[in-house]
Amino acid sequence: MKTILKSENIKKKYGKESVVDGISLDIYENTFTVICGPSGSGKSTLLNILSGLIRPTAGKVWYEDKVISDYSEPQLADWKRLEVGNVFQSYMLLNNLTVEENIKISIAPGKTPLSFDRLTRMLEIDSILDKFPAQLSGGQQQRVAIARAVIKAPRLLFCDEATGALDEANSKKVVELLHSLKSAFGVTILFTTHNAQIAETADRVLTIKNGMLHKDVMNENPISAKDMVWG
Ligand SMILES: Nc1ncnc2c1ncn2[C@@H]1O[C@H](COP(=O)(O)OP(=O)(O)OP(=O)(O)O)[C@@H](O)[C@H]1O
Ligand SMILES: [Mg+2]
Repeated sequence: MKTILKSENIKKKYGKESVVDGISLDIYENTFTVICGPSGSGKSTLLNILSGLIRPTAGKVWYEDKVISDYSEPQLADWKRLEVGNVFQSYMLLNNLTVEENIKISIAPGKTPLSFDRLTRMLEIDSILDKFPAQLSGGQQQRVAIARAVIKAPRLLFCDEATGALDEANSKKVVELLHSLKSAFGVTILFTTHNAQIAETADRVLTIKNGMLHKDVMNENPISAKDMVWG
């Protein structure tokens, strides 16, 4: 398996608190990795360091052969614009733009985007393109946020509790879609969640405790997203 992203002993301190306390990891290309662990264990902070949203206090992050943690702000901004998609629990759509505008705003100039029609059909949002976010259900908003993150054909997709605000049916739909995006477009996905069933669908499950990597398990037989059963 080819490493696409790598961290070397990364740490993040806020004051005296070590939120991430020395994590070294290889993330393999075209895999779906779940990051789980107790609330406050450092999952979001780790994800945000790997996606270049925050800088580590110590350690390095590599994207292929480049040390992105040493990038200047403009270099980092370019890398994020071209290679990275983020999906947040709170959607972060722009309220005064339509669904179509919200998605197309993230297309990176100079880079061929994915097919807008194919993507919006896949995500079942092709019939609501002229609506505004306030007119949509939570599940629809979440799928628009995914389309926005994915349209620019990022090689890395970071999802922080991307189904945290959704009911069972919508969560399943989103997880199924992420798996199809991985297969169809070769995206590498990192997904934080408290949901053990979503972890069962992943290629690999990382468990974080007290800012450290507690477990790193490859799933030999991931279940299909369709077969998830909510407890
Ligand atoms: N900007 C910040 N300033 C100070 N402390 C922070 C900051 N961001 C996070 N923390 C602290 O770091 C710890 C880890 O936070 P983080 O958000 O990474 O946890 P998490 O594992 O994602 O939790 P959850 O499951 O609740 O989302 C928490 O104790 C939090 O209070
Ligand atoms: Mg979090």
